[in-house]
Amino acid sequence: MKTHSDPLLQLDAAGRLRHLLTLDGLSRERITELLDRADELRAESRGGTRRLDLLAGRTVINLFFEPSTRTRTSFDLAAQRLGAQVINFDIASSSTVKGETLLDTVHTLEAMHCDAFVVRHKESGTPEFIARHLRSRAAVLNAGDGNQGHPTQGLLDALTLRGRHSELSALCVVICGDIRHSRVARSDVQAFGALGVREMRLCAPPELAPAANEFPGCAIVHDFDAAIDGADVIVMLRLQKERMTAAAIPSEAEYFRRYGLSPARLAQARANCLVMHPGPINRGVEIDGAVADGPQSLILEQVANGVFVRMAVLAELLSAK
Ligand code: CP
Repeated sequence: MKTHSDPLLQLDAAGRLRHLLTLDGLSRERITELLDRADELRAESRGGTRRLDLLAGRTVINLFFEPSTRTRTSFDLAAQRLGAQVINFDIASSSTVKGETLLDTVHTLEAMHCDAFVVRHKESGTPEFIARHLRSRAAVLNAGDGNQGHPTQGLLDALTLRGRHSELSALCVVICGDIRHSRVARSDVQAFGALGVREMRLCAPPELAPAANEFPGCAIVHDFDAAIDGADVIVMLRLQKERMTAAAIPSEAEYFRRYGLSPARLAQARANCLVMHPGPINRGVEIDGAVADGPQSLILEQVANGVFVRMAVLAELLSAK
């Protein structure tokens, strides 16, 4: 898969994870270790009700330059449940509005001492850019950069899938929606591919499909009804209007007619086909509310797993420092 990130930047000289910038290049063994660690921390923290002290004395700074509900809150909870101090840096009331640059902001925060930056930004490559210019031993965790990657989303989606299917190599997974602008699609394909998912189909209207060579090994399909035939799992994606330069779809009603997941359409997939969505969902645009709230939906299970995956990643990056 084509990527602009450098997978080696996130490893130290001994090959250990020093940052989490991308899932590209992470082995099946390393991803499995992180997922196993998430399950251990779920048990050790009794489902998040018992605070651990693995990261006591550590400071984590959430640097979100784009809105977020799930990722920011779950990183915050994950760090606190491991005993770390968390600063949710408020961009809108910070000196970035007075013209302070991104790197001057980062270096200022480093001067006060912090152990990790959790970074979300609309520009692809921003977490990597920060990692290259750090003046301390802080770790950088990518919480979503442009359309490039959302590695902890890929991990939590893999954890959710693994919790329901012990043998991923038997699965046919369909990812449907705005693939072109989706960092989740990229990280999901990297995670699912590393874990050996048998077949991945990417479904989108031609205007929102990725470049033909960007996802080797995945089928690109434009007909949703054909795509879901025989599917075990359907991952629905939101239209990323904030990343579109022009109206890429005729209307939301027409989009839903062709690419929306309705109960009738879900019935065409395999019996008990699972439905996933990274959120936020737009009901009636890409997914019917009855499907989102229905018995085959894993949407809130994904959210819950996000906390344990982020605990695992923070513990991996910070506890040995
Ligand atoms: N899935 C996801 O990244 O959601 P948020 O934008 O709410 O963090």
